[in-house]
Amino acid sequence: MRTQVAIIGAGPAGLLLGQLLYRAGIANIILERQSADHVLGRIRAGVLEQVTVDLMDECGVGERLHREGLVHQGIELLFKGARHRIDFPGLTGGKTVMVYGQTEVTRDLMAARAAEGLPTVYEVGDSVSLHGFDGTSPQVRYRHGGVERQVDCEFIAGCDGFHGVSRASVPKGAIHEYEKVYPFGWLGLLADVPPVFHELIYAHTERGFALCSMRSPARSRYYLQVPLEERAEQWTDERFWAELRARLDPQARERLVTGPSIEKSIAPLRSFVAEPMRFGRLFLAGDAAHIVPPTGAKGLNLAASDVKYLAAGLIEQYRERSAAGLDHYSERALRRIWRAERFSWWFTMLMHKFPGTGEFDRKVQEAELDYLVHSRAASTALAENYVGLPL
Ligand code: APR
Ligand code: PHB
Repeated sequence: MRTQVAIIGAGPAGLLLGQLLYRAGIANIILERQSADHVLGRIRAGVLEQVTVDLMDECGVGERLHREGLVHQGIELLFKGARHRIDFPGLTGGKTVMVYGQTEVTRDLMAARAAEGLPTVYEVGDSVSLHGFDGTSPQVRYRHGGVERQVDCEFIAGCDGFHGVSRASVPKGAIHEYEKVYPFGWLGLLADVPPVFHELIYAHTERGFALCSMRSPARSRYYLQVPLEERAEQWTDERFWAELRARLDPQARERLVTGPSIEKSIAPLRSFVAEPMRFGRLFLAGDAAHIVPPTGAKGLNLAASDVKYLAAGLIEQYRERSAAGLDHYSERALRRIWRAERFSWWFTMLMHKFPGTGEFDRKVQEAELDYLVHSRAASTALAENYVGLPL
């Protein structure tokens, strides 16, 4: 088959891009390794910057988000047994974030794509291969239903995540990778219990980091920093709740409602950036090009800003026959990516207990937190990065 843009991956990046291109009259196909149910079964983060909310509206899929999403006007930092609020609107001239699970973002985008009958091929497994993207007639080959198929296209968007085929298809000498792996993981638990607080609580404690988040007023999401060698199977619900209690302040401990987990998993933390993000007619977007530790809740939001830049470049190419947007895509996206990488790294280094570091490092972390919550300048820096820097 022939199309204008072949998109690899039906995660948030691929689905957002497919929707923006469709609404601009640009034909596209999405090839996805897994089934739609598998994609929807992933439990990922849930904090949307205004940029991402606006992009969902631009895609025409914002209705449920505005109906069910929770507008959050701040977060709480817990350290030395006390909580301190970071007031987003007060520090950023009115900005807020929206709490709405990535699963729901994906669900809304998948439903819109299906309703419009746009070509989406699920369960292609690892059959996708990219060809000719250094020329003017790229091709994507894949196997589906036991049949080898080929997509002749004009551009390829690699939206296939950190373990995808797109970045792996780039000649080694053409790409430079930057990486930092953190010496711990996050054990996440999802439960149908009311959240301990109406805003997120980020806790820095001598036992390690904890995060109290949510998906709705009836569904909570909690995280505990755990050593890298831990396995989720080693954590019964009881053990998780007891450790979370031990990391909370007395008021939160008192209010915590526990219940059976509906999901429990451990995710490693890494910072990663691949430069550049363009290779001829192949463009990388989202986790295919970069990874952030979840501390700053930037992963989904960076995928959204990449897609906004890439869609604008492709639309300019087709409408005005100008390559300017595509020529500047990588540089423009990477500037925002590195700012988010820095913020996510900074917040991770501040909030976690690092094995092998001594008392001095912990006292410096506590001093920085004390400064942060008592300095308007420092709190503003946190708030403006958390709600999302301008595009
Ligand atoms: N062929 C086709 N599809 C693939 C391939 C492949 N070889 N490899 C991976 N995929 C699919 C994955 O199954 C996944 O559905 O690409 C999709 C990539 O989606 P994400 O990993 O969600 O990445 P992205 O869309 O960039 O969204 C970034 O998702 O993972 C979170 O924390 C991350 O919030 C961030 C957001
Ligand atoms: C989540 O709700 O899953 C979440 C929220 C904020 C983060 C990370 C994860 O920083």
